[in-house]
Amino acid sequence: MFQTGLLKDRAIAITGGGTGLGRAMALRLADLGAGVLLVGRRQGPLEETAAEIRKRGGRAAWATADVRDFAAVEQAFDLGGTELGSLDSLINNAAGNFLARTENLSPNAFAAVVGIVLQGSFHCTLALGRRWISERRPGHVLNILTTYAASGSPYVVPSASAKAGVLALTRSLSVEWARYRIRVNAIAPGPFPTEGAWSRLVPSAVAEQAWLQQHPMRRFGRQEELADLAAFLLSDHAQYINGECVTIDGGMSACGSGGFSHLLGAPDEFWESLESQRRRSS
Ligand code: COA
Repeated sequence: MFQTGLLKDRAIAITGGGTGLGRAMALRLADLGAGVLLVGRRQGPLEETAAEIRKRGGRAAWATADVRDFAAVEQAFDLGGTELGSLDSLINNAAGNFLARTENLSPNAFAAVVGIVLQGSFHCTLALGRRWISERRPGHVLNILTTYAASGSPYVVPSASAKAGVLALTRSLSVEWARYRIRVNAIAPGPFPTEGAWSRLVPSAVAEQAWLQQHPMRRFGRQEELADLAAFLLSDHAQYINGECVTIDGGMSACGSGGFSHLLGAPDEFWESLESQRRRSS
């Protein structure tokens, strides 16, 4: 299904599109034919990613905006719409996060992360949703969450709270706006190495190894795997998928929820002894 032209004639806004997973999704969606509007705070990465897309023959525009500022978001979408044609999709990817003990957080630290993740996603969704509704055009919103949006997680409480809010936003709006032919879905990625995430969340090589050892597949996600999932969910192949949050983590969150996952490290002798006991008793 991932053929050139899959997203032909589409125009997709991606917040945080200049770096990390946002950049990876932008490159992939552009390769599949979409025009992409990269929105972010820093001009440098936006310009560089747009130039790379154009070099590969794709269509790209960029606009600086802090997603916490609703007026700036509106302006960015005006500009993107002029350069690429009417925007029909939005990926809420911009995020803020860091590791911290919650008792040491300042109220402003909590507000900064919730402002980017929850309010920012709401601002962008509202700005484009209103346009789609008033122009009677269909639209697609894809929210990039995290596996701990549903479970919560220690040491990232502002992010966990904000992402849980975006999950609620996803499910609520998918129902409210279905009548306008607007689909709202989410992706919950597990660990995908990017410079931004790793510098904030994986403080050392030892921490990285410990994380890998807990992973059932013993590897982290590849950026192209996430980008392909985003392309599918935004494509016409997924028209009946609405209000869904798709986890992509190689089984990591399922592993944590199993009552017997601690046996993953058990040696063969453990299982052989269990099996021979059973044979003896039957
Ligand atoms: N631990 C605890 N508090 C922190 C922190 C950390 N690592 N980093 C920032 N803060 C606090 C600041 O001290 C400040 O609070 P204060 O005013 O009470 O001192 C508050 O958070 C806001 O920080 P500031 O740097 O002014 O905010 P910002 O809006 O410029 O940046 C952040 C927002 C903090 C989320 C910043 O890390 C950021 O811009 N991140 C974007 C990229 C990102 O995080 N990607 C995530 C990939 S997983």
